[in-house]
Amino acid sequence: MADTNQSIHGEWSSRFAFILAATGSAVGLGNIWKFPYITGENGGGAFVIVYLICVAAIGIPIMIAETMMGRRGRQSPINTLKSLTEEAGGHTHWHYLGWLGVIAGFLILSYYSVIAGWSMAYVIKAFTGSFSGESATQISSMFSDLQASPLQQTFWHTIFMVATMAVVARGVKGGLEKAVRFLMPGLFILLMLLVAYAMTTGAYLQGLEFLFKPDFSELTAASVLTAMGHAFFTLSLGMGAIMVYGSYLPKNISIAKTAIMIAGADTLVALLAGIAIFPIVFSNGLEAGSGPGLIFETLPIAFGSMTGGGLFGILFFVLLVFAALSSAISLIEPAVAWCVEHYEVERKQACIGMGFVTWLLGMGTVFSFNEWSDVTIFGANFFEALDYLTANLMLPLGGLFIALFAGRIMLAKDSKDELDLGNDTLFDVWRFLVSYVAPAAVFIVFLNVLGVFGIFS
Ligand code: PHE
Repeated sequence: MADTNQSIHGEWSSRFAFILAATGSAVGLGNIWKFPYITGENGGGAFVIVYLICVAAIGIPIMIAETMMGRRGRQSPINTLKSLTEEAGGHTHWHYLGWLGVIAGFLILSYYSVIAGWSMAYVIKAFTGSFSGESATQISSMFSDLQASPLQQTFWHTIFMVATMAVVARGVKGGLEKAVRFLMPGLFILLMLLVAYAMTTGAYLQGLEFLFKPDFSELTAASVLTAMGHAFFTLSLGMGAIMVYGSYLPKNISIAKTAIMIAGADTLVALLAGIAIFPIVFSNGLEAGSGPGLIFETLPIAFGSMTGGGLFGILFFVLLVFAALSSAISLIEPAVAWCVEHYEVERKQACIGMGFVTWLLGMGTVFSFNEWSDVTIFGANFFEALDYLTANLMLPLGGLFIALFAGRIMLAKDSKDELDLGNDTLFDVWRFLVSYVAPAAVFIVFLNVLGVFGIFS
């Protein structure tokens, strides 16, 4: 079947290129912006433990499943699901799973781009020396000013969307691969530097304790769902991003090893971000649970007071923008690949259409911080509602069905052949994890939020 073919969209030039691209997709605002603030909102250590368990027990097996399905199907997730279903003799309804992913990708990118826009605005602030010598309060009000301005946010959101679509338009090798080559190492080095700064704040141990000392009385059903949802979000799982990247993967590469490396790198970056940020929070008497503004209200304090902080501030926010860009391109790639396959249009045209729709939707997020801040759906503003719907519901649900598809619908001989683990026991363990453990875990967490079990409620 299709497994010896190449994708019509092209192929990665090497295993390393795939690792870079998939890591580029995984490492993004989720690690540096979202992980610290949701950890702060959910009480620290216990939340971190649940998140780590979800990455290991649910995330890695599903990442293997998605990559494997993509490589075997060789098309956009929607069409990959169609052809894999045909191959396995499953029900045609499975391709709706591809649609769920495409829609989730749109929704996520629409607000992702606004937050990436904040990071772009901060590059300029760092460049003009706005942080130097400012107090924590002054830095906080700098952030509130940005949030209060629809005009500034729209400006940056527009630039980020144009940049994203420009990269995607250039295709697999020309665009995606080139963009991520120098990012990851740079980001890593700067994070280490911030960790070193955090050690000098006097609240280093307090920060570590907050992150790593679990207090299970802090854990609620809602925070368990958030931790699980974040495991999907941060690893780019449950919506076809990794599946579509898998479809550009040459045949002779070990999927399992690669997935473990990617998940490991992603987790490391998130933890480093937490280790850098919480000591700054505590040493400045800030609120760990202050929400989406957390990194924008803390890191500039570090840049404003450390030697060479001006330069590091610029570099940090530039890298953050690039990390966001390398994730953003994977959020929209499933939709673009599908458009090219289905309508037989040029990549460029597909990008213009998809980019515009996403941009428009993003305006809802821009307004949710100002004009529409009191328009709420179930008590959440537009941005919060989108974030909840995608990260906490759509990605875990998508992941649940992807796991079931890989474990129960695909024939064992096909997945075995594609994974080529060289070891039957390992294969059986993986198949058990995706067939039963991952789906059951997602299901139980969902039920628990509905109050069915009352664990951690
Ligand atoms: N993993 C990305 C991040 O952590 C976000 C993302 C989610 C990208 C889903 C693709 C798909 O920032």
